[in-house]
Amino acid sequence: MSDPGSTESEDRRERLQKVLARAGIGSRRHCEELIERGRVEVDGRVATLGDRVLPSATGIVVDGVPVSVDPTLVHYLLNKPAGVVTTAADTHGRRTVLDLVPSEPRVHPVGRLDLDTEGLLLLTNDGLLTHRLTHPSFGVPKEYLAEVEGEPGRGAVRRLREGVDLDDGRTAPATVTLVSPGVLRLVIHEGRNRQVRRMCEAVGHPVRRLVRTRIGSLRDPHLPPGAWRPLDLAELRALEQAVGRAPEATPPRGTGSGGRPANS
Ligand code: URA
Repeated sequence: MSDPGSTESEDRRERLQKVLARAGIGSRRHCEELIERGRVEVDGRVATLGDRVLPSATGIVVDGVPVSVDPTLVHYLLNKPAGVVTTAADTHGRRTVLDLVPSEPRVHPVGRLDLDTEGLLLLTNDGLLTHRLTHPSFGVPKEYLAEVEGEPGRGAVRRLREGVDLDDGRTAPATVTLVSPGVLRLVIHEGRNRQVRRMCEAVGHPVRRLVRTRIGSLRDPHLPPGAWRPLDLAELRALEQAVGRAPEATPPRGTGSGGRPANS
């Protein structure tokens, strides 16, 4: 947030268009135009040309979408291998996803993949984006490839699509296709614990291998298992767009799932 009243902070403030341009919103000139046209807000107020903000400002919104401009924020895309846990520290001494990315600045995984699930996982120190990506009301789609036992027929695929009764309730409609005998592609918008495994099991086809292949618009079929890379600015903006205009853009406090994170 901007910090009125502090001389030290005043000294560190930079022109808004400069901060926006550095964050990849566009050229300085383009950012000036955005400001002139009233498309930029800072801490809930429409910005005007000449406004200055701290480089770490968190309340900047462009076209209604909160954007991360803080240069200390990092966003990594990891291809998690099987056998690596998605927690900060494992009581059994197993490798964790944090062992696979730089230790500084400290990041956290966005949601969770099961021990044996492979594929794309985001890690970041961006708390606002994490909250939005994991909050059920934003419903960011995630795509999985599931190698299952047996060969699911039309009935099983239809049940997966329409919703399956699990012990924590019926699953929301999903996009499900049989890509080859025994291999399903599922796109779900929820992030319940072990959801894909439980869905497939419920229709009689337990999962043998599960790989997450997409988070929102984010995919990378060329990232080797165990490797990570930073998101590029276009990818970050696309993620922010995906969660920026959700119906509940500011979810009520205290509605987070709490406790152990579900898969998401
Ligand atoms: N669904 C699962 O069953 N497991 C995961 O790791 C992610 C989604």
